[in-house]
Amino acid sequence: MSNSSSVEIGKQRAAHQAVDDYINSECKVVGIGSGSTVVYAVERILQRPELKDIIYVPTSFQSKLLIVEGGLTMGSIEQYPDIDVTIDGADEVDSQLNVIKGGGACQFQEKLVAEAAKKFVIIADYRKKSSQLGTEWTKGVPVEVVPIAYKSVMKSIENLSQKPLKSTLRMAINKAGPVVTDNGNFVIDAHFGGIEDPAQLLREMKLLTGVYEVGLFCNMAEIAYFGEADGSVNTL
Ligand code: 5RP
Repeated sequence: MSNSSSVEIGKQRAAHQAVDDYINSECKVVGIGSGSTVVYAVERILQRPELKDIIYVPTSFQSKLLIVEGGLTMGSIEQYPDIDVTIDGADEVDSQLNVIKGGGACQFQEKLVAEAAKKFVIIADYRKKSSQLGTEWTKGVPVEVVPIAYKSVMKSIENLSQKPLKSTLRMAINKAGPVVTDNGNFVIDAHFGGIEDPAQLLREMKLLTGVYEVGLFCNMAEIAYFGEADGSVNTL
């Protein structure tokens, strides 16, 4: 099996297992995360007709499309601030269930919808498991910033208790300009190498003027499902 197909199988198995364990007909409102693994969660939801009556709250334009194209009922976080379960992907997960998210630049809405949920469930393939955040996901911690403040935030990041190795403004694939989030903001990817204290780093970054949200999710996830290359699923 090629590496890419074992990754896809891992994503699919983790997503299907998490949906089967956490989403049932007693759920009234479910948050839908963003990214390629979440596509498999929606695939599983659509295979189970008893989950059709649930209200689904999106975390991005992409997840809105998944909900709408799947014919599911969509609700906003303003209408449904109390969510039963939110299911979402991850870029890196450590053994304490600290998570880096925001590879798709959706971390603000993802955090909002995760925090509103009684249970926050992570789904990922085996590559996302890590002993220390920052060592497996080498693209940096995504920091969403108000556009006018991106330079000053980059400067302020230099003075954090753990200094970044570098920080870069995330550019669109064609390099024509910066990536713009669903909230009209920019994203700085701050590279720290191994992160010594994710919760402390999160606290410090949240205090910087111009920071809208940080892609560090600490003390939020109840469980993480990892789909392995051999098709088995492990949880943490
Ligand atoms: C988007 C995210 C995604 O959940 C994260 O990047 C994982 O994506 P994928 O499932 O495609 O690996 O945080 O902002």
